Amino acid sequence: MQASIEPLTKLTLPDMQAVNRLILASAGSDVDMIPQVANHLISSGGKRLRPMLTLAAAKMFGYKGAHHVTLATAVEFMHTATLLHDDVVDESGLRRGKSTARIIWGNQASVLVGDFLLGQAFKMMVETGSLPCLEVLSHAATVIAEGEVMQLAAAGHMTTEEGTYLTIIKAKTAVLFAAAAEVGAIIAGENGETRRNMAAYGKNLGLAFQLVDDALDYGGQTAELGKNIGDDFREGKITLPVILSYIRGNAAEKAFWRGAMEQGNNNEAALERALALISNYQALEDTIKAARDFGNKARAALADFADTPYKQALMQVVDFCVNRVT
Ligand code: IPE
Ligand code: IPE
Ligand code: MG
Ligand code: MG
Repeated sequence: MQASIEPLTKLTLPDMQAVNRLILASAGSDVDMIPQVANHLISSGGKRLRPMLTLAAAKMFGYKGAHHVTLATAVEFMHTATLLHDDVVDESGLRRGKSTARIIWGNQASVLVGDFLLGQAFKMMVETGSLPCLEVLSHAATVIAEGEVMQLAAAGHMTTEEGTYLTIIKAKTAVLFAAAAEVGAIIAGENGETRRNMAAYGKNLGLAFQLVDDALDYGGQTAELGKNIGDDFREGKITLPVILSYIRGNAAEKAFWRGAMEQGNNNEAALERALALISNYQALEDTIKAARDFGNKARAALADFADTPYKQALMQVVDFCVNRVT
């Protein structure tokens, strides 16, 4: 059976409907442009993976209240805000199969509406009255920004090592996955080992998720992904497929990568050559292999928990993230 997020979607369906209602209500503003821009991205869907982690974690540990819905919405708003900002930083034109907000309304509007959503996310966290949740999520917000800035500083530098790349993706992506899972456990009253295991699950899942995302930027299909393939190459973003191809390449090939990533010689023909080198050096296979290793760590973090449908669904999500094409 193809691994899917369907078991998680099914288990969290009523709660996700509440999350979606809260998302729409919280994107409203008397300032017309705010709901216009926010709803453009929100109505395009997205996998809603992170809020489902929060909901499932809370339920897995027997939570009976309603704050998990508020937290899950805050998590999705943080994600939505980072996407609005990220598409400005990356100069991306396509997101969730549609023109990005920056193409339609411009960079300024995208940045400001992202700020609005981040503000709404923090208001929701405060509404739950959980200082530990606020601590985890506000920490995630600052670390995501650090990750994006670290990546900006590393862009165009072929000397970037795998360890630096992993530090970057942990900050920009894995920390929010970790926080999403951890706050679900916290709101259910869990602490100590259980809370740490949920954070470890989310972190390793997030690392796997971003590694696969970076492989798909070279090996995926625009139509399936809803994002343009080759964006990372054109931006000079140093991801694992590039690092592996570079260190495995001969002198001429290394010079090609430096020209492409450092001097911006990245036209269509250059992308074709990059794809050929990536294929020649099995760089996508090894990137996916690294994702699989983190996926195994994510699964191991759940080992101590009772074998419930929630745990099974979270296990399946790992396979989905490692094997996904969307
Ligand atoms: C995109 O995340 C940003 C990354 C961390 C790669 P998702 O792939 O979860 O985005 P949506 O919400 O499903 O569109
Ligand atoms: C996504 O990063 C944004 C954050 C994790 C903050 P990327 O730039 O790698 O992802 P896409 O390809 O635009 O979704
Ligand atoms: Mg991007
Ligand atoms: Mg980016």
